[in-house]
Amino acid sequence: MGATPTAQATSTLTRPAALWCELGDWQGTPTDPALRPPPFSRPLPRPEVRSGPSVELQVLRAQAQILDGPATPVLAYDGQFPGPTIHARVGQELSLRLHAGEEEDAVLHLHGAHVPAVHDGHVNDVVPVGGSRTYTYANSQPAATLWYHDHLLMRTGPRVYSGLSGAYLLLDPGEVDLGLPVGDERDVELLITDRTFADDGSLVYDGGPGRPAVGDVVLVNGADRPRLDVAAGLVRLRLANVCNARGLRVGRADGMPLMQVATDGGLLGAPVDRASIELWPAERAEVLLDLSGADVGTRVVLADTAGGGNLLAIDVVDAPGGGAAPDVRLPPLADLPPPEVVRTITLDADGPRFLLAGHGFDPDVRDVYARLGAVERWQLVNTTSSSHPMHLHLVSFLVRSRSTSSGGPLALRPEDEGWKDTVLVRPFETVAVDARFADHEGDFMYHCHVLEHEDHDMMSQFRVVDLARVAGRTRVETAAAIVAGLPDPVGLVVVADGEDWRSALAGAALADALLLVSGTTLDPTVRDELVRRPPAQVVVVGDAVTEEVVDALAQLAPTRRVAAADPVATAAAVALDLAGQASTAVLATDRVFADALAAGLLGLPVLLTDPEVLSDAAADALQQLGVTQVVVAGGTAAVSPAVEASLVDAGLAVIRVAGADRTATAAAFTRRAGLDPTVWAASADRFPDALGAAVAARRTGGTLVLVGDSGVSSATAGVLIDAATRRIRIAGGEAAVTLVAEAALAAHIQLPPG
Ligand code: C2O
Ligand code: CU
Ligand code: CU
Repeated sequence: MGATPTAQATSTLTRPAALWCELGDWQGTPTDPALRPPPFSRPLPRPEVRSGPSVELQVLRAQAQILDGPATPVLAYDGQFPGPTIHARVGQELSLRLHAGEEEDAVLHLHGAHVPAVHDGHVNDVVPVGGSRTYTYANSQPAATLWYHDHLLMRTGPRVYSGLSGAYLLLDPGEVDLGLPVGDERDVELLITDRTFADDGSLVYDGGPGRPAVGDVVLVNGADRPRLDVAAGLVRLRLANVCNARGLRVGRADGMPLMQVATDGGLLGAPVDRASIELWPAERAEVLLDLSGADVGTRVVLADTAGGGNLLAIDVVDAPGGGAAPDVRLPPLADLPPPEVVRTITLDADGPRFLLAGHGFDPDVRDVYARLGAVERWQLVNTTSSSHPMHLHLVSFLVRSRSTSSGGPLALRPEDEGWKDTVLVRPFETVAVDARFADHEGDFMYHCHVLEHEDHDMMSQFRVVDLARVAGRTRVETAAAIVAGLPDPVGLVVVADGEDWRSALAGAALADALLLVSGTTLDPTVRDELVRRPPAQVVVVGDAVTEEVVDALAQLAPTRRVAAADPVATAAAVALDLAGQASTAVLATDRVFADALAAGLLGLPVLLTDPEVLSDAAADALQQLGVTQVVVAGGTAAVSPAVEASLVDAGLAVIRVAGADRTATAAAFTRRAGLDPTVWAASADRFPDALGAAVAARRTGGTLVLVGDSGVSSATAGVLIDAATRRIRIAGGEAAVTLVAEAALAAHIQLPPG
């Protein structure tokens, strides 16, 4: 960038068809030119700066003096249009408390932020009218120009148009070492948006399905063609298109280039000279304007050559002398490995509405289940004759390719460079973007950022699912690893022999944690876990555990053994010892264990019986416990009709929980236990891993599914879908839950339900 000639903006700029093909014939009444202030007569408004650790914003009605004439009623954050500029620092948490105001529910989304789903401002997650809530932002992502805006379902367009947006600058003081201007004087946010004004000064919103809201006056920081006074030197301009629908092409009116240094997600790998930069709604670009050595009186005009006309005059009002040419060095751009998954998302139309993946917004539908940490390629296939700036929440992505509908390659746009969160998809074009779905599980939205397209109905969701294995080299170690992940405190730990599933089952249902032991000495992983978090008491179930081990346990915590003549009697003794009284108990067979595993989820005493005849020990225990209702675990092959009949004869209410097979039975228990985002997956055949998982699921309010060696049954699949699965923990190593089964779980969560 060389010397800076003075430019008077005189160009009359017309709206090129290419950017506007979807707008059709705009029929509104234009803003009366007499109401507009003379060009460059007003100073550029600088929104009030707010910084952390905590910021409050309230949705308020206010009057903004935008015109030379009547004031304009706005609905804006703290009544300011645009809202206050929030300054955040990389790596420093900031919390934002939003007050919804008295008119309507509100949702605040920090656009471009990498945050947990609960703080992302999902449309399903409203702040009720009159209420407030706090969003927390970790700011653990590269410095970038972000912005915040309202995201109320089907009302985002009108609410943002009425004034609900503002800048959020994620700053990194280290950028000064890169030669980049920092500090308010030389680092200036420019929120560019468009509005149409009625003669009484009010905003005219005429957006709706198939009608993007376009204003005929383009504003910068809420002002019509303002003027920015600067001292000579390098100036950093953070351009943000915060229009509802208008595409911009921003450049210097004199045609000299701007040096682009950053895009949506932060810095580029190197500065690039650009004659102009296309910015579609929600896109950002940071540019440097080299006014070093410029004389007082120098004026540079920024204009939107796509039809908005002049935007801003930048006047040099002070020339402190000197002025070295800028020396900007940007660190190389990070890259991504090749994608593990390639998906196709269609952008469709249905009459005046636009759709994603063939449907409108449905809070219960997700098009994509992405595995946490995975790199995915999304091919955005535009089947419509409109342009759509597509935005993904949660991630920044790299634009990899563009092609025609017949697959012919197209050149990338200059604006595609760097880490983006919004990308233009032109009519009948396919754009491939790569992203890593890291750090946060849960539901996130993606949508077109033409807000009237988004509202009607071009928005959908993806879910990021965290799938990981909890395992040791043996089932003893696996049980300990599961316990290690349980929340504090651990009151009662049941210890059972690693080979004796019946003891484990009977005790686990009432315990806070299940540990398994093997051999004649206390296994080191079990000891470590007990030393790390000594429980209030340890109960050893059954007599398979040796005296040596019981003695070793007693050194670490109060320990006793509960055992009787056989496993059935032991289960009865455990129920009486640990529960004492219970109106409901679970009855399972002492033979076909797996049906009973998920019964541990209920937290009820589990009694065992011979499958063909109600065992005496079980019958006695039912009476002593005071049970009036029995949950029979498993189908008639597990517990026969004869056993059920004797329960009924004894005056007990019987509920049988069973499915077609053991995985289906587990699924049925899971449904009774209540559904939670965490699903534990365990082997249907290698019981003790599953028992520990059942305890873990119960402790954390999660669910348990059983998987076979070769995959996921339809019953399990049903649970995975209905349980709103966000996190899957696989209990056990590859010998327990095979890699094939793990792949089936992963593949399953990557399929859209239906
Ligand atoms: Cu600015 Cu859902 O986005
Ligand atoms: Cu966003
Ligand atoms: Cu669109």
